[in-house]
Amino acid sequence: MARSSSSSRGGGPEASRQQRGKRTVSKTSASWLKEHFDDRFVQQSWQDGYRSRASYKLLALDEKDRLLKPGMTVIDLGAAPGGWSQVAADKVGDHGMVIASDILEMDALAGVEFIQGDFTEEAVLEAILAVLGDRPVDLVMSDMAPNMSGMSAIDQPQAMYLVELALDLARQTLAPGGCFLAKVFQGEGFDAYLKELRASFDRVVTRKPEASRTRSREVYLLAEGFHG
Ligand SMILES: C[S@@+](CC[C@H](N)C(=O)[O-])C[C@H]1O[C@@H](n2cnc3c(N)ncnc32)[C@H](O)[C@@H]1O
Repeated sequence: MARSSSSSRGGGPEASRQQRGKRTVSKTSASWLKEHFDDRFVQQSWQDGYRSRASYKLLALDEKDRLLKPGMTVIDLGAAPGGWSQVAADKVGDHGMVIASDILEMDALAGVEFIQGDFTEEAVLEAILAVLGDRPVDLVMSDMAPNMSGMSAIDQPQAMYLVELALDLARQTLAPGGCFLAKVFQGEGFDAYLKELRASFDRVVTRKPEASRTRSREVYLLAEGFHG
């Protein structure tokens, strides 16, 4: 239950690859793959053992805003493949707890309790709350992003819906003074969302870590000092 709130036929290298029986990708995919493999954060993540370049966004945010401390309880929404969870588990240490969730599968990580499912489903919310028990949460973070169609009239409402649900969970679980970090796309609904955050938290700042691509409309909203 959902919750309220190319093939190519010409000649050229591709045809010759096909004749040799090699699998090919479309030009768009090929240029995306090239950009991905050339990206310095992708290359850095291979060296550092992180599962995604997204780790460097959280590391940069943490360096600036000191978000993660030993012993904290953290919820990581949209966690797969696990880059943020790796950083969080490392920083909260053995006395902390990280509960991660994603619609996709995620390989196990030491110190991370993973719940797979669609966060818009009531059952997933219930599963997260059940693992949490009555522990107050220090930080709720959401890096969730829907599959983008490229049509903002479709993508933006879907993205806003996910961050609204993430904020609902934060309001339900955060300890007084707790923090909320969410990836939000600039566009319809952004300003109203910022206003909502300001009503529940003492301080809200916008961050654009270096690893966040300049052309992307994503920014991170960090809300500190939860007061209900
Ligand atoms: C940018 S990726 C997250 C990267 C992750 N933070 C990391 O560090 O590796 C966005 C994630 O949001 C997840 N997502 C999108 N819609 C979702 C939904 N309805 N429920 C749960 N997860 C969702 C996607 O499956 C994807 O893994």
